[in-house]
Amino acid sequence: MSITTVNASQTATYKLGHRQVKRLGYGAMQLAGPGVFGPPKDRAAALAVLREAVASGVDHIDTSDFYGPHITNQIIREALHPYPANLAIVTKVSARRGADGSWIPAMSPEELTQAVHDNLSNLGLDVLDTVNLRSMFDVHGPAEGSLEEPLTVLAGLQQKGLIRHIGLSNVTSKQVAQGRSICDIVCVQNQYNLAHREDDALIDELAGLGIPYVPFFPLGGFTPLQSSALSDVAQQLGATPMQVALAWLLQRSPNILLIPGTSSVTHLRENLAAGQLKLTPEALAQLDTIAK
Ligand SMILES: NC(=O)c1ccc[n+]([C@@H]2O[C@H](COP(=O)([O-])OP(=O)(O)OC[C@H]3O[C@@H](n4cnc5c(N)ncnc54)[C@H](OP(=O)(O)O)[C@@H]3O)[C@@H](O)[C@H]2O)c1
Repeated sequence: MSITTVNASQTATYKLGHRQVKRLGYGAMQLAGPGVFGPPKDRAAALAVLREAVASGVDHIDTSDFYGPHITNQIIREALHPYPANLAIVTKVSARRGADGSWIPAMSPEELTQAVHDNLSNLGLDVLDTVNLRSMFDVHGPAEGSLEEPLTVLAGLQQKGLIRHIGLSNVTSKQVAQGRSICDIVCVQNQYNLAHREDDALIDELAGLGIPYVPFFPLGGFTPLQSSALSDVAQQLGATPMQVALAWLLQRSPNILLIPGTSSVTHLRENLAAGQLKLTPEALAQLDTIAK
């Protein structure tokens, strides 16, 4: 038996800002061209993925104006605007793209303010639901450093009514604590998956605080996870390895919200169906060996 029925509405919910969102959402980064730069090779297919996601019950979409740049947000707008009232669109700021597609830190007050306005206009919104400040002290992973200045800028834009909620991305526990002393932090988005578990303690800490943890690269990112333990468990359960990877995250902690990325309607359906998969203690023990 394979798990193919799709419906994000069958999955549980968790608080994200003022909303309860389904634990299975969608990450839009894969909708831009190769290297998240330039237009997709098939724009109609990108529109179809977004429309299928929402039709299947997805109410949480992750994006950024630096995907493309601008292009992913423009595709989201074309596919879904006017947006359903229950849809949480979460974006992120603090990087810009070089002419060669490179990722360049853009954390100055002027750059952050411009990024918020670019997100508003490209998404066609008057207010952004949630904006994650993506720390760029080290583009590849969390690195200590004060986020006071950029967060104060975002908090000012929140007071002006341009942002409803603020979150953090690519951050340490210390930065979360600093952030919470400046403004309400409604979510944390860091890299985490079956093979990359540096944030185990942070996830538990955030669960205690009732703050959602949103793993990016839940399937391993540009090169999806490959492991014999993952394939074995998938085969035993009649599921795909990607479904097992997502089910493991759902079972890891109730505050985990998923935003797997795909440019394919088939993969989207497969990923959403992972909400129905229950992993046995034996399967969890086998999967636990992957990160060791
Ligand atoms: N805060 C940050 O710094 C940060 C960084 C990276 C990403 N993000 C966010 O996190 C989201 C998720 O990350 P991600 O999209 O980079 O990585 P991901 O979800 O771990 O994996 C995406 C990759 O897996 C493939 N894939 C998806 N579903 C599949 C399936 N069922 N079977 C086989 N392959 C499958 C995709 O290819 P196909 O297109 O062919 O399906 C793509 O290559 C992004 O969309 C973005 O919104 C945030």
